[in-house]
Amino acid sequence: MLNFGRNRNQTRPNRLSLGGMDYSDLKRKNGYVGKVLLAASLTVLCIIMLKQSPNFNTPSMFSVHGTGVTHVLVTGGAGYIGSHATMRLLRDKYRVTIVDNLSRGNLGAVKVLQEMFPDPGKLQFIYADLGDAKAVNKIFSENAFDAVMHFAAVAYVGESTLEPLRYYHNITSNTLVILEAMAAHGVKTLIYSSTCATYGEPEKMPITEDTQQLPINPYGKAKKMSEDIIRDFSKNSDMAVMILRYFNVIGSDPDGRLGEAPRPELREHGRISGACFDAARGIIPGLKVKGTDYKTADGTCVRDYIDVTDLVDAHVKALKKAQPRKVGIYNVGTGKGRSVKEFVSACQKATGVNIKVEYLDRRPGDYAEVYSDPTKIRLELNWTAKYTNLEESLRMAWRWQKTHANGYGPVMVTS
Ligand SMILES: NC(=O)c1ccc[n+]([C@@H]2O[C@H](COP(=O)([O-])OP(=O)(O)OC[C@H]3O[C@@H](n4cnc5c(N)ncnc54)[C@H](O)[C@@H]3O)[C@@H](O)[C@H]2O)c1
Repeated sequence: MLNFGRNRNQTRPNRLSLGGMDYSDLKRKNGYVGKVLLAASLTVLCIIMLKQSPNFNTPSMFSVHGTGVTHVLVTGGAGYIGSHATMRLLRDKYRVTIVDNLSRGNLGAVKVLQEMFPDPGKLQFIYADLGDAKAVNKIFSENAFDAVMHFAAVAYVGESTLEPLRYYHNITSNTLVILEAMAAHGVKTLIYSSTCATYGEPEKMPITEDTQQLPINPYGKAKKMSEDIIRDFSKNSDMAVMILRYFNVIGSDPDGRLGEAPRPELREHGRISGACFDAARGIIPGLKVKGTDYKTADGTCVRDYIDVTDLVDAHVKALKKAQPRKVGIYNVGTGKGRSVKEFVSACQKATGVNIKVEYLDRRPGDYAEVYSDPTKIRLELNWTAKYTNLEESLRMAWRWQKTHANGYGPVMVTS
Protein backbone atom coordinates (compact mmCIF):
# COMPACT_ATOMS: atom_id res chain seq x y z
CA MET A 1 0.00 0.00 0.00
CA LEU A 2 1.23 3.37 -0.90
CA ASN A 3 0.44 6.06 1.62
CA PHE A 4 1.42 9.63 0.83
CA GLY A 5 -0.55 11.23 3.73
CA ARG A 6 0.54 11.45 7.30
CA ASN A 7 -0.58 8.51 9.34
CA ARG A 8 -1.94 9.27 12.80
CA ASN A 9 -0.05 6.45 14.27
CA GLN A 10 3.11 7.54 12.68
CA THR A 11 5.57 8.70 15.25
CA ARG A 12 8.13 9.79 12.77
CA PRO A 13 7.11 12.29 10.17
CA ASN A 14 8.51 12.69 6.67
CA ARG A 15 8.37 9.05 6.06
CA LEU A 16 6.73 7.49 3.11
CA SER A 17 5.33 4.03 3.62
CA LEU A 18 5.42 1.68 0.72
CA GLY A 19 3.80 -1.74 0.99
CA GLY A 20 4.65 -2.13 4.64
CA MET A 21 8.17 -0.80 4.12
CA ASP A 22 9.13 2.67 5.03
CA TYR A 23 11.06 5.04 2.77
CA SER A 24 14.45 4.74 4.45
CA ASP A 25 14.27 0.94 4.14
CA LEU A 26 13.32 1.41 0.54
CA LYS A 27 16.28 3.72 -0.07
CA ARG A 28 18.63 1.17 1.49
CA LYS A 29 17.08 -1.61 -0.57
CA ASN A 30 17.24 0.49 -3.72
CA GLY A 31 20.94 1.16 -3.08
CA TYR A 32 21.51 -2.56 -2.74
CA VAL A 33 19.53 -3.40 -5.88
CA GLY A 34 21.40 -0.68 -7.72
CA LYS A 35 24.72 -2.14 -6.73
CA VAL A 36 23.64 -5.60 -7.84
CA LEU A 37 22.38 -4.20 -11.14
CA LEU A 38 25.61 -2.27 -11.64
CA ALA A 39 27.71 -5.35 -10.95
CA ALA A 40 25.56 -7.41 -13.31
CA SER A 41 25.83 -4.80 -16.07
CA LEU A 42 29.59 -4.59 -15.63
CA THR A 43 29.85 -8.38 -15.82
CA VAL A 44 27.76 -8.43 -19.01
CA LEU A 45 29.90 -5.63 -20.43
CA CYS A 46 33.10 -7.51 -19.61
CA ILE A 47 31.77 -10.67 -21.27
CA ILE A 48 30.80 -8.69 -24.39
CA MET A 49 34.23 -7.03 -24.49
CA LEU A 50 36.02 -10.32 -23.93
CA LYS A 51 33.94 -11.98 -26.63
CA GLN A 52 34.79 -9.19 -29.02
CA SER A 53 38.52 -9.36 -28.23
CA PRO A 54 40.46 -11.36 -30.82
CA ASN A 55 41.93 -13.66 -28.17
CA PHE A 56 38.51 -14.80 -26.95
CA ASN A 57 36.91 -15.69 -30.23
CA THR A 58 40.10 -16.86 -31.98
CA PRO A 59 41.25 -20.18 -30.60
CA SER A 60 45.00 -20.55 -30.01
CA MET A 61 46.87 -20.88 -33.30
CA PHE A 62 48.15 -24.22 -32.00
CA SER A 63 44.66 -25.62 -31.51
CA VAL A 64 43.50 -25.34 -35.12
CA HIS A 65 44.91 -26.84 -38.29
CA GLY A 66 46.34 -23.95 -40.31
CA THR A 67 46.23 -23.99 -44.09
CA GLY A 68 49.67 -24.52 -45.52
CA VAL A 69 51.32 -24.99 -42.15
CA THR A 70 52.30 -28.32 -40.63
CA HIS A 71 52.15 -28.47 -36.85
CA VAL A 72 54.71 -30.88 -35.42
CA LEU A 73 54.72 -32.14 -31.86
CA VAL A 74 58.38 -32.54 -30.90
CA THR A 75 58.65 -34.67 -27.77
CA GLY A 76 61.96 -34.17 -25.99
CA GLY A 77 62.47 -30.86 -27.79
CA ALA A 78 64.41 -29.40 -24.87
CA GLY A 79 67.05 -32.09 -25.34
CA TYR A 80 70.09 -32.22 -27.58
CA ILE A 81 68.68 -33.63 -30.81
CA GLY A 82 65.09 -32.43 -30.27
CA SER A 83 66.20 -28.80 -29.89
CA HIS A 84 68.25 -28.95 -33.09
CA ALA A 85 65.31 -30.56 -34.91
CA THR A 86 62.97 -27.84 -33.62
CA MET A 87 65.30 -25.13 -34.91
CA ARG A 88 65.37 -26.71 -38.35
CA LEU A 89 61.57 -27.16 -38.41
CA LEU A 90 60.96 -23.56 -37.37
CA ARG A 91 63.39 -22.33 -40.01
CA ASP A 92 61.48 -24.37 -42.58
CA LYS A 93 58.22 -22.65 -41.50
CA TYR A 94 56.73 -25.50 -39.53
CA ARG A 95 54.71 -24.82 -36.37
CA VAL A 96 56.18 -26.62 -33.36
CA THR A 97 54.93 -27.67 -29.95
CA ILE A 98 57.64 -29.01 -27.66
CA VAL A 99 56.58 -31.37 -24.89
CA ASP A 100 59.31 -32.14 -22.38
CA ASN A 101 59.52 -32.92 -18.67
CA LEU A 102 62.98 -31.31 -18.48
CA SER A 103 64.30 -34.41 -16.72
CA ARG A 104 67.30 -34.31 -19.02
CA GLY A 105 66.75 -31.36 -21.35
CA ASN A 106 67.29 -27.65 -20.84
CA LEU A 107 64.75 -24.87 -20.69
CA GLY A 108 67.63 -22.65 -21.85
CA ALA A 109 67.53 -24.37 -25.25
CA VAL A 110 63.80 -23.63 -25.51
CA LYS A 111 64.44 -19.98 -24.61
CA VAL A 112 67.05 -19.72 -27.37
CA LEU A 113 64.49 -21.07 -29.83
CA GLN A 114 61.76 -18.74 -28.56
CA GLU A 115 64.08 -15.77 -29.00
CA MET A 116 64.94 -16.87 -32.52
CA PHE A 117 61.28 -17.44 -33.47
CA PRO A 118 59.15 -15.03 -31.42
CA ASP A 119 56.21 -14.77 -33.87
CA PRO A 120 52.84 -15.96 -32.56
CA GLY A 121 51.90 -19.46 -33.61
CA LYS A 122 55.47 -20.59 -34.24
CA LEU A 123 56.62 -22.32 -31.08
CA GLN A 124 55.02 -23.30 -27.79
CA PHE A 125 56.50 -25.25 -24.92
CA ILE A 126 54.45 -27.58 -22.75
CA TYR A 127 55.95 -29.01 -19.60
CA ALA A 128 54.64 -32.56 -19.22
CA ASP A 129 55.73 -36.11 -18.57
CA LEU A 130 54.90 -38.56 -21.33
CA GLY A 131 54.36 -41.24 -18.72
CA ASP A 132 51.23 -39.35 -17.65
CA ALA A 133 48.70 -40.65 -20.20
CA LYS A 134 45.97 -38.29 -18.94
CA ALA A 135 48.19 -35.24 -19.43
CA VAL A 136 49.28 -36.46 -22.87
CA ASN A 137 45.68 -37.00 -23.90
CA LYS A 138 44.78 -33.48 -22.75
CA ILE A 139 47.65 -32.04 -24.80
CA PHE A 140 46.42 -33.89 -27.88
CA SER A 141 42.83 -32.76 -27.34
CA GLU A 142 43.87 -29.10 -26.98
CA ASN A 143 46.29 -28.97 -29.92
CA ALA A 144 45.89 -29.74 -33.60
CA PHE A 145 49.00 -31.73 -34.44
CA ASP A 146 49.69 -32.90 -37.97
CA ALA A 147 52.73 -34.97 -37.10
CA VAL A 148 54.81 -36.19 -34.16
CA MET A 149 58.58 -36.44 -33.92
CA HIS A 150 59.09 -38.61 -30.87
CA PHE A 151 62.58 -37.91 -29.48
CA ALA A 152 61.88 -37.95 -25.73
CA ALA A 153 63.70 -40.77 -24.02
CA VAL A 154 66.36 -41.66 -21.54
CA ALA A 155 69.25 -42.65 -23.76
CA TYR A 156 72.38 -44.01 -22.10
CA VAL A 157 73.44 -47.59 -22.74
CA GLY A 158 75.40 -47.87 -19.47
CA GLU A 159 72.57 -46.44 -17.38
CA SER A 160 70.12 -48.85 -19.02
CA THR A 161 72.09 -51.83 -17.73
CA LEU A 162 71.82 -50.41 -14.18
CA GLU A 163 68.18 -49.26 -14.37
CA PRO A 164 66.46 -51.47 -16.96
CA LEU A 165 62.91 -50.93 -15.69
CA ARG A 166 63.28 -47.19 -16.00
CA TYR A 167 64.28 -47.68 -19.63
CA TYR A 168 61.39 -50.00 -20.49
CA HIS A 169 58.99 -47.60 -18.85
CA ASN A 170 60.38 -44.39 -20.29
CA ILE A 171 61.00 -45.70 -23.80
CA THR A 172 58.58 -48.54 -24.51
CA SER A 173 55.63 -47.66 -22.34
CA ASN A 174 55.76 -43.94 -23.18
CA THR A 175 55.87 -44.71 -26.91
CA LEU A 176 52.67 -46.69 -26.40
CA VAL A 177 51.10 -43.66 -24.68
CA ILE A 178 52.07 -41.42 -27.62
CA LEU A 179 50.79 -43.90 -30.18
CA GLU A 180 47.46 -44.31 -28.38
CA ALA A 181 47.03 -40.54 -28.18
CA MET A 182 47.85 -40.19 -31.89
CA ALA A 183 45.32 -42.88 -32.78
CA ALA A 184 42.64 -41.38 -30.53
CA HIS A 185 43.10 -37.87 -31.94
CA GLY A 186 43.67 -38.76 -35.60
CA VAL A 187 47.29 -37.61 -35.87
CA LYS A 188 48.54 -39.37 -38.94
CA THR A 189 52.33 -39.04 -39.16
CA LEU A 190 55.00 -40.33 -36.80
CA ILE A 191 58.77 -39.98 -37.07
CA TYR A 192 60.33 -42.22 -34.45
CA SER A 193 63.84 -41.88 -32.97
CA SER A 194 65.35 -45.32 -32.88
CA THR A 195 68.93 -46.43 -32.62
CA CYS A 196 71.60 -48.70 -33.98
CA ALA A 197 71.60 -50.24 -30.49
CA THR A 198 68.57 -52.26 -31.67
CA TYR A 199 70.93 -54.29 -33.89
CA GLY A 200 73.14 -55.42 -31.03
CA GLU A 201 76.44 -56.74 -32.25
CA PRO A 202 75.95 -58.17 -35.73
CA GLU A 203 78.64 -60.37 -37.24
CA LYS A 204 78.52 -58.61 -40.55
CA MET A 205 79.35 -54.96 -41.19
CA PRO A 206 78.09 -52.56 -42.44
CA ILE A 207 74.63 -52.76 -40.92
CA THR A 208 71.73 -52.55 -43.34
CA GLU A 209 68.08 -52.14 -42.37
CA ASP A 210 67.66 -55.88 -42.99
CA THR A 211 70.36 -56.83 -40.49
CA GLN A 212 68.70 -58.88 -37.77
CA GLN A 213 67.86 -56.87 -34.64
CA LEU A 214 69.31 -58.63 -31.61
CA PRO A 215 69.84 -55.91 -29.01
CA ILE A 216 72.15 -56.74 -26.12
CA ASN A 217 71.27 -54.04 -23.57
CA PRO A 218 67.98 -52.75 -22.11
CA TYR A 219 68.27 -49.46 -24.03
CA GLY A 220 68.43 -51.28 -27.38
CA LYS A 221 65.76 -53.76 -26.30
CA ALA A 222 63.37 -51.02 -25.15
CA LYS A 223 63.77 -49.21 -28.49
CA LYS A 224 63.27 -52.44 -30.43
CA MET A 225 60.07 -53.14 -28.47
CA SER A 226 58.83 -49.64 -29.32
CA GLU A 227 59.57 -50.27 -32.98
CA ASP A 228 57.64 -53.56 -32.78
CA ILE A 229 54.63 -51.86 -31.17
CA ILE A 230 54.64 -49.16 -33.88
CA ARG A 231 54.95 -51.70 -36.68
CA ASP A 232 52.18 -53.94 -35.31
CA PHE A 233 49.89 -50.94 -34.92
CA SER A 234 50.68 -49.78 -38.46
CA LYS A 235 49.44 -53.04 -39.97
CA ASN A 236 45.84 -51.95 -39.41
CA SER A 237 46.20 -48.22 -39.52
CA ASP A 238 46.62 -45.54 -42.17
CA MET A 239 49.32 -43.81 -40.17
CA ALA A 240 52.46 -42.72 -42.06
CA VAL A 241 55.49 -43.87 -40.07
CA MET A 242 59.22 -43.36 -40.42
CA ILE A 243 61.59 -45.12 -38.03
CA LEU A 244 65.07 -43.63 -38.06
CA ARG A 245 67.85 -45.68 -36.51
CA TYR A 246 70.57 -43.22 -35.59
CA PHE A 247 74.16 -44.13 -35.15
CA ASN A 248 76.33 -42.02 -32.77
CA VAL A 249 75.27 -38.42 -32.82
CA ILE A 250 77.84 -35.63 -32.43
CA GLY A 251 78.29 -31.95 -33.29
CA SER A 252 76.06 -28.94 -32.84
CA ASP A 253 74.43 -26.04 -34.67
CA PRO A 254 77.13 -24.58 -36.99
CA ASP A 255 75.95 -21.06 -36.06
CA GLY A 256 76.62 -21.76 -32.40
CA ARG A 257 73.17 -21.14 -30.91
CA LEU A 258 72.49 -24.65 -29.66
CA GLY A 259 74.72 -27.34 -28.23
CA GLU A 260 74.82 -30.54 -26.23
CA ALA A 261 74.47 -29.91 -22.51
CA PRO A 262 73.88 -33.11 -20.57
CA ARG A 263 73.25 -32.91 -16.83
CA PRO A 264 76.47 -33.04 -14.79
CA GLU A 265 75.13 -36.03 -12.84
CA LEU A 266 74.98 -38.00 -16.11
CA ARG A 267 78.66 -37.51 -16.85
CA GLU A 268 79.59 -40.99 -15.72
CA HIS A 269 77.17 -42.53 -18.26
CA GLY A 270 77.93 -39.89 -20.83
CA ARG A 271 78.74 -40.10 -24.44
CA ILE A 272 82.24 -39.81 -25.78
CA SER A 273 81.89 -36.26 -27.19
CA GLY A 274 80.65 -34.88 -23.85
CA ALA A 275 83.48 -36.60 -22.03
CA CYS A 276 86.01 -35.28 -24.53
CA PHE A 277 84.84 -31.67 -24.02
CA ASP A 278 84.72 -32.07 -20.24
CA ALA A 279 88.30 -33.34 -20.33
CA ALA A 280 89.39 -30.48 -22.60
CA ARG A 281 87.86 -27.96 -20.17
CA GLY A 282 89.48 -29.65 -17.19
CA ILE A 283 86.13 -30.57 -15.56
CA ILE A 284 87.29 -34.18 -15.53
CA PRO A 285 90.98 -35.17 -15.32
CA GLY A 286 91.01 -37.00 -18.66
CA LEU A 287 89.26 -39.51 -20.89
CA LYS A 288 88.61 -43.09 -19.86
CA VAL A 289 88.65 -45.38 -22.87
CA LYS A 290 86.80 -48.54 -21.88
CA GLY A 291 88.10 -51.60 -23.69
CA THR A 292 91.25 -51.99 -25.77
CA ASP A 293 90.92 -55.67 -26.62
CA TYR A 294 88.00 -55.56 -29.04
CA LYS A 295 88.42 -57.26 -32.41
CA THR A 296 89.03 -53.98 -34.24
CA ALA A 297 92.07 -52.49 -35.98
CA ASP A 298 93.40 -50.68 -32.89
CA GLY A 299 91.50 -52.67 -30.21
CA THR A 300 89.11 -49.83 -29.31
CA CYS A 301 85.41 -49.75 -30.24
CA VAL A 302 84.43 -48.56 -33.69
CA ARG A 303 81.39 -46.34 -34.17
CA ASP A 304 79.70 -44.38 -36.94
CA TYR A 305 79.50 -40.71 -35.89
CA ILE A 306 76.69 -38.72 -37.45
CA ASP A 307 76.54 -34.92 -37.17
CA VAL A 308 73.32 -33.60 -35.60
CA THR A 309 72.76 -31.15 -38.48
CA ASP A 310 72.72 -34.06 -40.94
CA LEU A 311 70.49 -36.04 -38.60
CA VAL A 312 67.79 -33.38 -38.40
CA ASP A 313 67.94 -33.01 -42.16
CA ALA A 314 67.09 -36.72 -42.38
CA HIS A 315 64.05 -36.04 -40.14
CA VAL A 316 62.72 -33.28 -42.35
CA LYS A 317 63.17 -35.45 -45.44
CA ALA A 318 61.46 -38.36 -43.67
CA LEU A 319 58.55 -36.11 -42.67
CA LYS A 320 58.09 -34.96 -46.25
CA LYS A 321 58.23 -38.46 -47.70
CA ALA A 322 56.16 -40.28 -45.07
CA GLN A 323 53.25 -42.10 -46.70
CA PRO A 324 49.97 -43.34 -45.21
CA ARG A 325 49.87 -47.07 -44.40
CA LYS A 326 53.65 -47.36 -44.81
CA VAL A 327 56.49 -47.78 -42.34
CA GLY A 328 59.83 -46.54 -43.67
CA ILE A 329 62.86 -47.77 -41.75
CA TYR A 330 66.21 -46.10 -42.29
CA ASN A 331 69.71 -46.15 -40.88
CA VAL A 332 71.04 -42.66 -40.34
CA GLY A 333 74.82 -42.80 -40.37
CA THR A 334 77.81 -41.84 -42.48
CA GLY A 335 78.65 -45.41 -43.48
CA LYS A 336 82.15 -45.01 -42.06
CA GLY A 337 83.39 -46.43 -38.76
CA ARG A 338 85.96 -44.59 -36.59
CA SER A 339 87.72 -46.03 -33.60
CA VAL A 340 87.66 -44.44 -30.16
CA LYS A 341 91.38 -43.73 -30.57
CA GLU A 342 90.68 -41.86 -33.82
CA PHE A 343 87.91 -39.96 -32.07
CA VAL A 344 90.20 -38.94 -29.22
CA SER A 345 92.83 -37.72 -31.64
CA ALA A 346 90.21 -35.66 -33.59
CA CYS A 347 88.99 -34.24 -30.29
CA GLN A 348 92.50 -33.25 -29.24
CA LYS A 349 92.96 -31.43 -32.56
CA ALA A 350 89.53 -29.76 -32.46
CA THR A 351 89.98 -28.48 -28.91
CA GLY A 352 93.73 -27.85 -29.10
CA VAL A 353 94.05 -29.61 -25.74
CA ASN A 354 96.32 -32.57 -25.18
CA ILE A 355 93.66 -34.57 -23.31
CA LYS A 356 94.98 -37.23 -20.94
CA VAL A 357 93.75 -40.72 -21.85
CA GLU A 358 93.39 -43.67 -19.50
CA TYR A 359 92.75 -47.15 -20.90
CA LEU A 360 90.41 -49.37 -18.86
CA ASP A 361 88.54 -52.68 -19.06
CA ARG A 362 85.44 -53.06 -21.21
CA ARG A 363 82.11 -51.56 -20.07
CA PRO A 364 79.18 -54.01 -19.85
CA GLY A 365 76.69 -53.69 -22.70
CA ASP A 366 79.13 -52.24 -25.25
CA TYR A 367 79.71 -53.81 -28.64
CA ALA A 368 82.94 -53.83 -30.68
CA GLU A 369 82.10 -52.44 -34.06
CA VAL A 370 79.04 -50.69 -35.41
CA TYR A 371 78.72 -48.75 -38.62
CA SER A 372 75.91 -48.25 -41.07
CA ASP A 373 75.14 -48.87 -44.66
CA PRO A 374 73.20 -45.69 -45.49
CA THR A 375 72.33 -46.72 -49.08
CA LYS A 376 68.59 -47.08 -48.47
CA ILE A 377 68.11 -43.58 -47.08
CA ARG A 378 70.19 -42.13 -49.92
CA LEU A 379 68.12 -43.87 -52.57
CA GLU A 380 64.67 -43.41 -51.04
CA LEU A 381 64.91 -40.09 -49.17
CA ASN A 382 67.72 -38.50 -51.18
CA TRP A 383 69.71 -38.00 -47.97
CA THR A 384 73.45 -38.29 -47.43
CA ALA A 385 75.62 -37.10 -44.59
CA LYS A 386 77.45 -33.87 -45.44
CA TYR A 387 79.29 -33.18 -42.20
CA THR A 388 81.59 -36.18 -42.37
CA ASN A 389 84.79 -34.59 -41.11
CA LEU A 390 84.98 -35.72 -37.49
CA GLU A 391 87.43 -33.03 -36.47
CA GLU A 392 85.30 -30.29 -38.09
CA SER A 393 82.10 -31.49 -36.37
CA LEU A 394 83.90 -31.55 -33.04
CA ARG A 395 85.36 -28.10 -33.70
CA MET A 396 81.85 -26.67 -34.24
CA ALA A 397 80.60 -28.33 -31.07
CA TRP A 398 83.66 -27.13 -29.15
CA ARG A 399 82.91 -23.54 -30.15
CA TRP A 400 79.55 -23.75 -28.36
CA GLN A 401 81.03 -25.67 -25.42
CA LYS A 402 83.75 -23.05 -24.93
CA THR A 403 81.23 -20.23 -24.67
CA HIS A 404 78.80 -22.28 -22.57
CA ALA A 405 80.99 -23.77 -19.89
CA ASN A 406 77.88 -23.77 -17.75
CA GLY A 407 75.64 -25.42 -20.36
CA TYR A 408 72.49 -23.34 -20.89
CA GLY A 409 73.05 -21.55 -17.60
CA PRO A 410 74.59 -18.06 -17.60
CA VAL A 411 77.09 -17.77 -20.47
CA MET A 412 80.62 -18.42 -19.22
CA VAL A 413 83.59 -18.36 -21.55
CA THR A 414 86.48 -20.71 -20.86
CA SER A 415 89.98 -19.87 -22.02
N1 LIG B 1 72.39 -38.96 -28.82
C1 LIG B 1 72.61 -40.06 -29.53
O1 LIG B 1 73.76 -40.38 -29.87
C2 LIG B 1 71.44 -40.94 -29.94
C3 LIG B 1 71.69 -42.06 -30.74
C4 LIG B 1 70.63 -42.86 -31.12
C5 LIG B 1 69.33 -42.52 -30.76
N2 LIG B 1 69.12 -41.44 -29.98
C6 LIG B 1 67.72 -41.13 -29.60
O2 LIG B 1 67.45 -39.77 -29.88
C7 LIG B 1 66.50 -39.25 -28.96
C8 LIG B 1 67.00 -37.94 -28.37
O3 LIG B 1 68.22 -38.17 -27.70
P1 LIG B 1 69.11 -36.97 -27.14
O4 LIG B 1 70.52 -37.37 -27.32
O5 LIG B 1 68.65 -35.69 -27.69
O6 LIG B 1 68.78 -37.08 -25.59
P2 LIG B 1 68.53 -35.90 -24.53
O7 LIG B 1 68.61 -36.54 -23.18
O8 LIG B 1 69.40 -34.74 -24.82
O9 LIG B 1 67.03 -35.48 -24.85
C9 LIG B 1 65.92 -36.26 -24.45
C10 LIG B 1 64.83 -35.29 -24.01
O10 LIG B 1 63.67 -36.05 -23.65
C11 LIG B 1 63.13 -35.53 -22.44
N3 LIG B 1 62.40 -36.60 -21.76
C12 LIG B 1 62.88 -37.78 -21.29
N4 LIG B 1 61.90 -38.48 -20.74
C13 LIG B 1 60.77 -37.75 -20.85
C14 LIG B 1 59.42 -37.95 -20.44
N5 LIG B 1 59.04 -39.05 -19.80
N6 LIG B 1 58.51 -37.00 -20.73
C15 LIG B 1 58.88 -35.86 -21.38
N7 LIG B 1 60.14 -35.62 -21.77
C16 LIG B 1 61.07 -36.56 -21.51
C17 LIG B 1 64.35 -35.05 -21.65
O11 LIG B 1 64.04 -34.09 -20.67
C18 LIG B 1 65.21 -34.48 -22.77
O12 LIG B 1 64.93 -33.12 -23.00
C19 LIG B 1 66.29 -40.37 -27.92
O13 LIG B 1 65.11 -41.05 -28.26
C20 LIG B 1 67.48 -41.27 -28.11
O14 LIG B 1 67.21 -42.60 -27.75
C21 LIG B 1 70.13 -40.64 -29.55
